[in-house]
Amino acid sequence: MQSFSVRTSKFGGSMIRAMSLNDNLTDTINLGQGYPDFDPPKPLLGALKQTTVSGPHQYALSQGSVNFRDALAKKQSRFMKRTISADKEVLATCGSTEAMMAALLTLIDTGDRVIVFRPYYENYVSQAKIAGAEIDFVDLKLPDFQFDADELEAAFKKKPKAIIICNPSNPTGKVFTKEELQTIADLAEKYDTYVITDEVYEHILYEGRKHVYFASLPRMWERTITCGSLSKTYAITGWRVGYIITSETILTAVKRAHDYLTVCAPSQLQQAVVAGLELGDDYYENLQESYQQKKDVFLKGLGQLGLRYLEPQGAYYVLVDISPFGFQNDLEFCDRLIEKTGVITVPGTSFQNSEATGTVRFHFAKKISTLEEACNRLEKIKNYTFR
Ligand SMILES: Cc1ncc(COP(=O)(O)O)c(C=O)c1O
Repeated sequence: MQSFSVRTSKFGGSMIRAMSLNDNLTDTINLGQGYPDFDPPKPLLGALKQTTVSGPHQYALSQGSVNFRDALAKKQSRFMKRTISADKEVLATCGSTEAMMAALLTLIDTGDRVIVFRPYYENYVSQAKIAGAEIDFVDLKLPDFQFDADELEAAFKKKPKAIIICNPSNPTGKVFTKEELQTIADLAEKYDTYVITDEVYEHILYEGRKHVYFASLPRMWERTITCGSLSKTYAITGWRVGYIITSETILTAVKRAHDYLTVCAPSQLQQAVVAGLELGDDYYENLQESYQQKKDVFLKGLGQLGLRYLEPQGAYYVLVDISPFGFQNDLEFCDRLIEKTGVITVPGTSFQNSEATGTVRFHFAKKISTLEEACNRLEKIKNYTFR
């Protein structure tokens, strides 16, 4: 038999999704893969019930159903503070995951370079490799995950085709400041580089921070592919509805990649999610408040256990320092944690591509009661007394 493709041999399976396999064990709490254990907003559930009967049941337009695009364009025009054309600047995708893949396939030829900040959301590296890219990492440095502008420029000097920005960021919880984004924008312009942004956590920021859409910076609209999702905003990670918003020129090209990747995002779910897109500003204010509460409860719990962590500014993850436990590698820690407490987490390794980072990632997109229960169980590791 002939061998499989070289391109898919260059990466392993997702560690995040692999950790969720442990969820089949009895009595686990999954703080690994980032999905909620609470229901989506009621209007979405009502709309879903209705669409199961009334449809649509057939393919949507490849670009996305008209209702969905209209509602999304209206909502994002409000938040991005520019008038977005539902017809020319919006594409419905199967989650932001497909949006990112379609964006990369549209821009990248084999051997083209892509800049990725590290630690990174693990999908980026595998997806860039599928597209044939060579990756240049730029480190986000402790204590607050800032990048060094000279190191970033050195990566730009290698003439990358694109840079990927995750803001707010998984797994670090970093929210890029407007100044940092402007530095990236200046370099993108200077070196004529496309910018692919992953802004799935646009509505989850802490301590009153406000999200800055990269595409809204001066002259960035024309070179930015904004990848977004409804997964996190409406607690519907299983619905697989996301989108790309970009200039008409780029959209025309991305639509072709999307058409052959998936034909269309699920038509019934595009329809049902319109009820979410039509929610008013108070929904997003409550969402922020509820995640702020979750963060406060969980981080307080971690602190009481004597664990050190890096405080997230956005998204719903926290990287915890496990170096004092003295494990050989992060995965060994995660496996032992599941065995002793039933709490599932993700090894820091999967976000950095190194054997032992001395960190694990917990997510806290759970009911407060679940987070409290997780903290109770984690008592067993209090003050680093667990091996
Ligand atoms: C940064 C980031 N981007 C994309 C995704 C996946 O989004 P979607 O469900 O829209 O594919 C996730 C999921 O955890 C994520 O954390």
